[in-house]
Amino acid sequence: MINIIYKKETNSTNTDAKELAKNGASEGTVVIADRQTAGRGRVGKSFFSPDATGLYYSLILRPQFSLEEITFITSAAAVSAVRAIENVLGIRCGIKWVNDLYLENKKVCGILCEATPNLDGGAEYVILGIGINLLPPEGGFPEDIKNVAGSVLTECENISDIKLSLAKSITEIFFEYYEDFESHSFIKDYQNLSIMDAREITVLGNEPYEATALFIDDECHLHIEKENGERVVLSSGEVSIKFI
Ligand code: BTN
Repeated sequence: MINIIYKKETNSTNTDAKELAKNGASEGTVVIADRQTAGRGRVGKSFFSPDATGLYYSLILRPQFSLEEITFITSAAAVSAVRAIENVLGIRCGIKWVNDLYLENKKVCGILCEATPNLDGGAEYVILGIGINLLPPEGGFPEDIKNVAGSVLTECENISDIKLSLAKSITEIFFEYYEDFESHSFIKDYQNLSIMDAREITVLGNEPYEATALFIDDECHLHIEKENGERVVLSSGEVSIKFI
């Protein structure tokens, strides 16, 4: 059962959803907000969440599978978000490994999946957080992300309806995959929607290096070739694409 809780403003819908889950909220509960004052991104970054221009969405899950399997939730979510945006707006984004959505070489959506482990090697609950930049923010994106961030639309009149339709569509599509999760039926879609193949990339970290992305395998790992010809398989991490 999908139950959508709407807030005008909150610090983070992921934090709200976590609190609800801790207090027993059921799987399928969704929190959306018009604005987040402390939106969170991956690797301790913040997620710019200005008023009215984006969808800030968090879904409570109570998966019955292992933590290893839970890592695939982000990949299924990326595919679900692409398909929902296409259903509702007729616009097709691509997936940049590992979990960002890109449109015309700009990041328009990020995903933050947070699991609270239990004692059986699984999770008590998982919060699947998705942030989609739907419209350009008033005054533009902040300096530190303005070269990377973009929005799905340039203008629209019924943004509230669009946000609700997107929230419903993402949840429905995600649950189609989730019902038979361990079959990994989303991987083929993930591979088809990936924008990584043959891209010149920088692998970020303490010592960044240049490489060519080759393909994404059935474990959602990224195969790359370093400049010296060495092949490496990345299971997690951050890469940036050199858009020409
Ligand atoms: C990233 O790109 O690093 C991930 C961004 C995830 C942002 C979403 S917005 C809804 C939910 N609430 C948060 O605080 N973060 C996620």
